[in-house]
Amino acid sequence: MSITRRKLLGWAAALPAAGLGTAGFTPLRAQDRTAAAVAESDDLRASVFSRQLAPEGYPATEVWGYNGAIPGPEIRQPQGSRLRRRLVNGLPEPSSIHWHGIRLENGMDGVPGLTQEPVAPGESFDYGFDLPDAGTYWYHTHNRSYEQMARGLFGPLIVTEAEPPEADTDLVLFLDDWRLGGDGTIAAGFGAAHDAAHAGRLGNFITVNGAFDFRRKVQQGERLRLRVINGATSRIFPLALDAMAGWIVAFDGMPLAGPESADGRAIVLGPAQRVDLIVDVTAEAGEQATLVGIERGQGFALASFDVASGKDLARGPRGAPLPLPANPLQLRHPALVAGKEMRRQEMLLQGGAMRALQSASYQGRRQDGQALADQGKYWAFSDVIGLPEAPFARLSPGETLRIDMVNDTAFAHAMHLHGTHFREIDAEGAPGPWRDTLLIDPDERRSIAFVADQPGNWLFHCHMLAHQEAGMKTWIEVTA
Ligand code: C2O
Ligand code: CU
Repeated sequence: MSITRRKLLGWAAALPAAGLGTAGFTPLRAQDRTAAAVAESDDLRASVFSRQLAPEGYPATEVWGYNGAIPGPEIRQPQGSRLRRRLVNGLPEPSSIHWHGIRLENGMDGVPGLTQEPVAPGESFDYGFDLPDAGTYWYHTHNRSYEQMARGLFGPLIVTEAEPPEADTDLVLFLDDWRLGGDGTIAAGFGAAHDAAHAGRLGNFITVNGAFDFRRKVQQGERLRLRVINGATSRIFPLALDAMAGWIVAFDGMPLAGPESADGRAIVLGPAQRVDLIVDVTAEAGEQATLVGIERGQGFALASFDVASGKDLARGPRGAPLPLPANPLQLRHPALVAGKEMRRQEMLLQGGAMRALQSASYQGRRQDGQALADQGKYWAFSDVIGLPEAPFARLSPGETLRIDMVNDTAFAHAMHLHGTHFREIDAEGAPGPWRDTLLIDPDERRSIAFVADQPGNWLFHCHMLAHQEAGMKTWIEVTA
């Protein structure tokens, strides 16, 4: 695979036309005033600050983020512990925090209009909940997320196992893409009609842990646990390993029953999805190992690892790791699917460019496609747009629901359920891995099943955030 450093995508090419890199342009220094000013604390302070996202010599970018960092600070706590964070809103508009993939009380789920009031500028909100399942999760704003997340309001949330797997290094790789204008600012036009009706707002500039050129030193033979998080608003990241050999041990935080080889295959991460990899560096000292991103059939380096000779470490692959210990959720529902009669409900994914809605129900009224487009609504679930009065399904705790999704659109969608993980059910009825987000391609039919966990109102939506805003969300009620 040819690896080119092509992380800038369209952005670098646009520079000369935008008049940058020529006379009259004053390069700004990376400045991170806010980061220095914010001490370690239990607050997550959302604010506007400036960060050097583009290469040195280009202007800094005004972003919105937590505690002056992009991504926000890594929260890392043991399984079973209680997470407490105060959101302090220093933004010019209301916000909230959703703890993506965590099973928690409904009131802590962070969805304005469904589980809490949005937190006004200058106000705060105290989040506190236990962390029942270990794994790789993340947190992000859930208010006007198609804009607030495109500006940077997200961070990793890692719940550690009591006995972590054997690895020399545990490293989060937080992927994101940005749409930058020629002057380094984040391009406006959030929720633009064209993006909303097509594949969402795709960026022109990719960062890993906030850096456009993520590099790190590793030792020959080092075993890494890589926790890869797709934090982009819409971009799907196909990934591959180069000069590293290893295994997939978890998706969306939940351990696989057995490690799966990651060698010679592409791992596709839709928006909000995560993968945990355990990999051994196989490159020789002086060479490079790479996490490769694939864009239109071309590989490029997402994260580069410069290999030094390690005296203490074994060389080459060490053999498959043990599976990660199963989480309580997985232990509680060992037979989620096997031989079980369960309630089934179909969900049609409809609309978008090329298959525009003729009509749909929005705000309790049937409206025609043009009227809906005038309100920025292009997508529907089974003929309904946005959050209807009645939930998509009402379940009692412990009840199992199977949702048969039919993607009758020309685009992929990343369907995310709040409150608990589900399993995909294949055509033969066999269960797949536990996940909280499922990527479904155009014209595919895919089924999921889950057991209603905690009482409350749980969002079910597309994590391509412009799609969510343009209609692709509904909710599931779990009665008390
Ligand atoms: Cu990661 Cu409803 O969100
Ligand atoms: Cu979608």
